[in-house]
Amino acid sequence: MIKKPFLISAGLILAVAVLFLAFPSSNSQAGVNAKKALAERLWKMSGHADKDSEVFKHWDVDGSIPTSCAKCHSSLGFRDFLGADGTAGGIVDKAAALGTTVDCLVCHTDSEKGILRQNSSVQFPSGVVMDNLGPEGLCMECHQI
Ligand code: HEC
Ligand code: HEC
Ligand code: HEC
Repeated sequence: MIKKPFLISAGLILAVAVLFLAFPSSNSQAGVNAKKALAERLWKMSGHADKDSEVFKHWDVDGSIPTSCAKCHSSLGFRDFLGADGTAGGIVDKAAALGTTVDCLVCHTDSEKGILRQNSSVQFPSGVVMDNLGPEGLCMECHQI
């Protein structure tokens, strides 16, 4: 005969397992927070976050980053280029303020949840246009020289 306490324990274990499967950790708030913490840690180790680097400080003496350079050397300039600041896309309309890096908002519309910007088409300096790109479409806007 199977003992009652055993059945109760087995039932509890099953219930916990079902709950786990019904709410995968990737969709839970804890899962999102863990991914954000990891993304933040990795970003901080990268050149994209190196605010003291020449690539972000070069224009400090000028007071702002000119339109010809701001797309790749400033978060504000990149978002201006994409039109994400409400201005026309495909062009940097105004010089960018100093002090940004290649930060979360260069690549994400929502960096809390890790939602990426869509940028599926990139024109290179040669005039060649590449379409149907995934996340790499973001990288290729800057890493093309
Ligand atoms: C807004 C422009 C911009 C975008 C978008 C961008 N990068 Fe960069 N990236 C830079 C700049 C500027 C540097 C130089 C940073 C430095 O030297 O401090 C750099 C540096 C790097 C380096 C050199 C290693 C390092 O840590 O410095 C790698 C690798 C790299 N980027 C990969 C990527 C990838 C992959 C993506 C897309 C997911 C991407 N980049 C998107 C501007 C950009
Ligand atoms: C299409 C994107 C893009 C544009 C536009 C751009 N750059 Fe860059 N620049 C980069 C990237 C990416 C790097 C980092 C290269 C690397 O680390 O290998 C860089 C590096 C640099 C560096 C650092 C070089 C070093 O040896 O440390 C300077 C200075 C610089 N750029 C100046 C400028 C100036 C001035 C302009 C405007 C006239 C400009 N860039 C326009 C993408 C761009
Ligand atoms: C140069 C571009 C770039 C920058 C800067 C960047 N990310 Fe990301 N991030 C990515 C890409 C690409 C992915 C992978 C997305 C995918 O696979 O769908 C990602 C993934 C993530 C994810 C996980 C999303 C998921 O569903 O798995 C989070 C959260 C995140 N990033 C947050 C951040 C935060 C916070 C920062 C700033 C501290 C940051 N990212 C900076 C490009 C970037």
